[in-house]
Amino acid sequence: MNTPPAQRFSDRVVAITGAASGIGRATAARLAAEGAHVLLLDLDIDGAEETARGVRARGGRADARALDLSSPESVEQVANALMAEHPALDGLVGCAGVVHIDGVQENPFLERGLAGWDLLFSVNVRGMASLVHTLVPALVAARGVVVTVSSEAAYRSRAGRWIYDATKAALLSVTRSMAAALAPEVRVVGIAPGGTITEMHLRDHDDPESARARMREAGGSNLLGRLAEPEEIAAAIAFAASSDASFITGTTLPVDGGGAGSR
Ligand code: NAI
Repeated sequence: MNTPPAQRFSDRVVAITGAASGIGRATAARLAAEGAHVLLLDLDIDGAEETARGVRARGGRADARALDLSSPESVEQVANALMAEHPALDGLVGCAGVVHIDGVQENPFLERGLAGWDLLFSVNVRGMASLVHTLVPALVAARGVVVTVSSEAAYRSRAGRWIYDATKAALLSVTRSMAAALAPEVRVVGIAPGGTITEMHLRDHDDPESARARMREAGGSNLLGRLAEPEEIAAAIAFAASSDASFITGTTLPVDGGGAGSR
């Protein structure tokens, strides 16, 4: 689908959260294909190891490490270990995210109140912000880049997903403010994907492969009339993290098939 351009990440080291699955796994594959040594961080260490094996099988460099973004201790320990191993870190991409708790798809405000608030904010916002904070010296040393992953959900009004949507809206602000705090040495760029066919939507199904096919057939409520493949979001993340985006910071780019234009 996308032909990787020249090796934009040769000799670069990039950490990716949420690399066990979906957009994070596709981002790991894309950046590694462009020459990056990728550091794969995830709560699901088996999945992160599997991503690493896939990267290595294609001749790339990858290391996997367990990270629980909801735990301040885990974030601090992992960030310090990364700093010790990579005093200059070229990039950090925050793909990890949770959309609901306890397998409950919808958490309407009136029925469930703030159930899930702490978990969703700790993983989607606080954990990422804390990781960046600890890694600042390494990111500054490399004149690196941070890529946050928000969502088209940041701009929506949905009673059942209101906490997730709020975390994604918070990331728009965090991206702007971090960019101001870290300029000019470190760029901070957000990507706001539209609906993307990943495990996030599939893992609760008995038959994920037929659910995937149904999602492809169902299309999407955007100008292109379909959902994204994770590789298409990874391509935008790779652009944001590369020197091709050297004059972009503090903003979040919609990658949503024209969803923003069709609302
Ligand atoms: P996914 O569910 O396939 O992957 C998310 C990854 O985050 C998983 O590997 C999971 O183990 C990891 N994770 C969950 N909790 C964690 C924790 N406490 N610490 C560390 N890692 C943790 O999801 P997908 O679809 O790849 O999403 C990636 C990002 O893109 C998320 O931030 C999501 O909100 C965002 N996004 C996804 C869209 C979609 O339709 N799939 C649309 C818009 C945004």
